[in-house]
Amino acid sequence: MTGSRLLGTGSALPRRIVTNAELATRVDTSDEWITARTGIRQRHIAGDDETTATLATAAARAALVDAGVEASSIGLIVLATATPDNTFPATATKVQAALGCQGGVAFDVAAVCSGFLYALATADSLLKTGMARRALVIGAETFSRILDWEDRTTCVLFGDGAGAVVLEAPSGDGGGAGILGTKLHSDGDHHDLLYVDGGPSSTQTVGHVRMRGQEVFRHAVVNLSAVLKEVLEDTGFVPADLDWVVPHQANARILDATARKLGIAPEKVVVTVQDHANTSAASVPLALDVARKDGRIKAGDLVMLEAMGGGFTWGASLIRM
Ligand code: UT7
Repeated sequence: MTGSRLLGTGSALPRRIVTNAELATRVDTSDEWITARTGIRQRHIAGDDETTATLATAAARAALVDAGVEASSIGLIVLATATPDNTFPATATKVQAALGCQGGVAFDVAAVCSGFLYALATADSLLKTGMARRALVIGAETFSRILDWEDRTTCVLFGDGAGAVVLEAPSGDGGGAGILGTKLHSDGDHHDLLYVDGGPSSTQTVGHVRMRGQEVFRHAVVNLSAVLKEVLEDTGFVPADLDWVVPHQANARILDATARKLGIAPEKVVVTVQDHANTSAASVPLALDVARKDGRIKAGDLVMLEAMGGGFTWGASLIRM
């Protein structure tokens, strides 16, 4: 059975743009190094009045407008984030209150950079049970708040932002549009390669991102190409059938290497890392919204979403738009 249908997308970015050149005035780095090693040219950084919840709400409102549906029709909000406004309650409930669609279900999921894929799979599953008819699935982050701004190996890589999609439960009259297949994976053995060195129960602090970049890079290419293959095999498609791949935007070199491994033409890969840097759970829905709004991704296209992040967690989802 085809899964939930995607009715609309939206995104939001903080007002302030920080260029590589500006970062080079703060830490020992250069525009040349960041561009060559990652493809990143700039990132958006949240101001004092911008939080994960405000960005998530703005992205959700844009997705509702794009879908042409009222907030009151949303019975489920699943929000992926590693940078919630508060330890509790869930940031999703703040978004729910801001949108005025109380009465449904709202909660957060934590799978860091793969969070949007986890949230999408969770919402799709709940919609299929009949728990709600429509859902907002949001990826939203303010990673700037958990960066060590003196650590050049991490602080140049991340940015803030949010992306959202409106999903509708499968109804049988979608003409084949919807989520066709999803695979998620986790492997807790790799905790120390990418983690935050704080938290309420361990240190009673928020902590900072720590990463062994080269090792994460190697795992990312292997895991992402494997999970893409799995979803294609499960759904009966081959790489050449894909119209678009919308990957997690961590590093342009990871996107290139993964596409090359699967024989996917580079022009089919949506790349926004140059403008947004790595926005963790927000990066896939942000890139999806950019490519829909600029007319690249159209109704009927076969689109693969994929991401990998801390945990490790990784996953992919194939959607007929
Ligand atoms: O979103 C979750 C998933 N995350 C990822 O997928 C990230 C995966 N990893 C990466 O994208 C890359 O490994 C990085 C971009 C983090 C690093 O690129 P790299 O090509 O693996 O560089 P490296 O870590 O091997 O470092 C090369 C050199 C080192 O200097 P030495 O030891 O060769 O003298 C680093 O100290 O570059 C140095 N370096 C920097 N130089 C200038 C590290 N960070 C910087 C910097 N500016 N910001």
